[in-house]
Parts: sequence; structure tokens; C-alpha cells
Amino acid sequence: MRVLGIETSCDETGIAIYDDKVGLLANQLYSQVKLHADYGGVVPELASRDHVRKTVPLIQAALKEAHLTAKDIDAVAYTAGPGLVGALLVGATIGQALAFAWQVPAIPVHHMEAHLLAPMLEKTPPPLPFVALLVSGGHTQLVKVTAIGKYQLLGESVDDAAGEAFDKTAKLLGLDYPGGLMLSQLAQKGRANRFIFPRPMTDRPGLDFSFSGLKTFAANTIKNNDDDNQTRADIAYAFEDAVVDTLAIKCKRALIQTGFSRLVIAGGVSANQPLRLKLTKMMQKQCGEIFYARPEFCTDNGAMIAYTGLIRLKTNKNNDLCVTVRPRLPLSALT
Ligand code: KG4
Ligand code: ZN
Repeated sequence: MRVLGIETSCDETGIAIYDDKVGLLANQLYSQVKLHADYGGVVPELASRDHVRKTVPLIQAALKEAHLTAKDIDAVAYTAGPGLVGALLVGATIGQALAFAWQVPAIPVHHMEAHLLAPMLEKTPPPLPFVALLVSGGHTQLVKVTAIGKYQLLGESVDDAAGEAFDKTAKLLGLDYPGGLMLSQLAQKGRANRFIFPRPMTDRPGLDFSFSGLKTFAANTIKNNDDDNQTRADIAYAFEDAVVDTLAIKCKRALIQTGFSRLVIAGGVSANQPLRLKLTKMMQKQCGEIFYARPEFCTDNGAMIAYTGLIRLKTNKNNDLCVTVRPRLPLSALT
């Protein structure tokens, strides 16, 4: 059984084909980063227009890469939300139209469920149950996963997502959008202990996060210090260290609360090296296990949509034929 996956929720057009016996047969990705760079963030209208230009050629490229034709595809999965509505509509409309033309099921996929399941694409997939830390540009959530499709939200950010805080702080440091990776690279040249940032909401019980204060703390630190390269690197280091430490403290709490010994990290920020390192050490110390996807499957991609579509197809869920997309879509809406 082969599923074509279409991802157009934000600024990446991702197309992939997943085969339940062979695995990933094709994976095409086009990033719009250059298109939005001058604006310092994603411009929704430009994103939609570019998805219109890129989606069909990338589908053709994916079929070619897999040496397949339309008749070899058993279902078409597309991201239905959360995301930018105009961008989502491009993938949803093309996905539904292709499914109708090819007379196969169309499968709407939840973007965050796809992130959560992305580590399943790796050689050693995480066994159930586990705690998932979802850290992307729009979300920071801790989720108790007892079965595929059974997601209990344990905590989430009350303001900015971790990726958003990375991007906003990167901008303050004069880095281009999206700045998460660049901030992390700058932090490698930074020194520990020159600046110490707070660990928000770790001094009280609970599993919620708050990251907007860190961005303000960074802005004040930048204002009150010289603007030289070493200072900028030291600030990047202190900011990253605070985010990583805060996420680790809450992951540990979630594992204690659930009694689970497996941690899955997913979403764009899970590509962050210091975060992976810190959580790996923490899980080793606790005799637990950690799972994450390769960096290109942490950020937005079509492979996770095709894979999630396949899982949904097998469990016979969500095969309706109306085109609906939702900019806000809680994981708990899934059945
Ligand atoms: O999951 P994703 O590709 O898109 C959303 O669904 O939001 O996540 C994008 C976010 C951006 O905020 C980006 O700066 C951040 O992930 N990111 C990183 C790294 N790579 C991507 N943040 C920190 N370190 C990284 N290496
Ligand atoms: Zn994403």
C-alpha cells in the first residue's frame, strides 16, 4: 500500500511517497525561506502562491523518484491543520482533487500528529507508550501517548512556542528568519556563565511553559551590553541553554508523572543539538530511552504526512471527502 503525502501548512512544500512494506520511496522538499527572508518572517499570501507553483511539479518529481505512476498510489494524504489557512487550502485542494481523479481515499492529516510520528520513520521506532515533547515554530507541548491516536495533553506553552522564541531572539541578534538553527550555530562560539537567563515556570508545579519572557530578557541583555560578536554569541549561548534546560526539567517531570520511561522529541526544535544531547544524557541517567527523527524529518516535510496518512488509512479513520482545513486544531480533536 502506497500513500502520497502533501505538506503545505507553512513555508515548506513537502511531497513524499511511503510504502507500508518498503518504507519511504520518495521525498521532495522545497523551502520558501529565501522568499520570506526580506520580510523577517512568513508572509501568508506569498506562501500560498508559492505552494500553488511548487506542489504539482514536486508531486511529479516524487512519482519519478519512486519510478511510479498515478495508478500505483493507493491514497493521498494532506495536512489539514494546524497552519496558515491559505497555504493549507493549496495542499488540501490538490490532494482532494488528485484523490478524486485517481479514485482513491483522501486523508486529512493533523500536522502535529505527523511531527509526533516522524521518529517512526527511523530504523528504531519508539515503542508505545511514551511521553512526547512537541517543539515547533507554533507549538510547545508535552503529550502522553498510550496508543496511536490517543493523545493526552499534559502541558503546553501559555505564550510563545520554543521555536518562536528562538526565531524572535535570533532576529534581535540580527540573524535572518528562521533563526533557530543560526542562533544555535552562533551559540557554539558563546561562553557559559557570562549571562544566566531564567528558567521560566520551573519554580512551580505543572507542565506548562512560557517562553516570551526569555525573548524580553534577551532584548534587555542586548540593550545593556556592548554589541560585539563575542557578546552576541554569549547571549545566544545563555538563551539556548535556558530553553534547553527548561524543556529538560519539564520532560523529567512528565516522565515522573506518567511513570513512562520513553521520551520522544519531535518538531523543528528537536533538531537542536544541545537539546538532543541534554535529553539523551538525562535519559541515560534515568535508564530510559530517547527517540528523535533525523534533522530533515524534525522540520516540516512530506514524509511524516505520507506516513501518518498510511497509519490513518490502515485504521480507517478520517476518510471524508469534503475540503476542510483548520488553522487551529488541537490534537485532542483526533479520534
Ligand atoms: O516544525 P517546524 O519545521 O515548523 C512548524 O511546524 O512550526 O519548526 C520550525 C521551527 C522554527 O522556529 C525554527 O527556528 C526551529 O524550528 N528550528 C530550530 C532548529 N532547527 C529548526 N530551533 C533551534 N535549533 C535548531 N537546530
Ligand atoms: Zn511543523
